[in-house]
Amino acid sequence: MHMPSILSALSLASLALAGPVQVAERQAQKLKIMPLGDSITEITCWRALVWDQLQAAGLADKVQYVGSQNSNPQNCKPTTANWDQHHEGHSGWLAVDIANNYLTNWLKSTPADIVMFMLGTNDVFRGKSTNDIIAAYTKMVNIMRAANPKTKIIVDLVIPLSLGSNSNIQALNARIPEWAKGLNSTESPIVIADCYTGYSTSMLRDGVHPNLDGDKLIASRVGPLLLDYVKQSLAK
Ligand SMILES: *[C@@H]1O[C@H](CO)[C@@H](O)[C@H](O)[C@H]1NC(C)=O
Repeated sequence: MHMPSILSALSLASLALAGPVQVAERQAQKLKIMPLGDSITEITCWRALVWDQLQAAGLADKVQYVGSQNSNPQNCKPTTANWDQHHEGHSGWLAVDIANNYLTNWLKSTPADIVMFMLGTNDVFRGKSTNDIIAAYTKMVNIMRAANPKTKIIVDLVIPLSLGSNSNIQALNARIPEWAKGLNSTESPIVIADCYTGYSTSMLRDGVHPNLDGDKLIASRVGPLLLDYVKQSLAK
């Protein structure tokens, strides 16, 4: 059953049947949401649970997740079986590298109306300073806005670590509110999903990654902000 190559062959076949033009038009009408991050985006289930919120709000057919990745490595089974598994989560990757070397091309390949990101955990592991991580966040926002001046942005406070330096996670999270306020704009708003407050280390399956309780907490903080953005965008 878990044969991604066959699944993608099937979806290629249906693309061919529908005709590339019709498919492109249909996708052009959907709001494009990019889940951007590291393993906490890639090998977790919160993006599936957020999709359930979109579905429950009657918005799922009006949106798509975008990104170069299309995977469900945790075999998440949300209520919505046909949830969109596209994302831009890259296990082990640093915010500084994504900002310097990758995000421009990712957004060229799969443009986004909304970007939601959690990044910095691997930077902390590798000893990057809070200043370097915040500088990478600024660079990422500039890249998003260069690609689409109306990008709506959700930045997550990073979940805690029980391995490594949680105090450096706290130092990063402490900087995010002022940073976000400083770059906020009406055309391209930035809102903060607080995925830290109330996140206990019992919600980590391995000291770093969320278990189902952690996924639920992240989804409960990110989802409502995303739904607001989607409703605002569709109202225009
Ligand atoms: C950015 O501005 C919007 C209103 O345009 C506001 O809702 C939001 O809280 C602001 N974000 C920050 C981080 O202050």
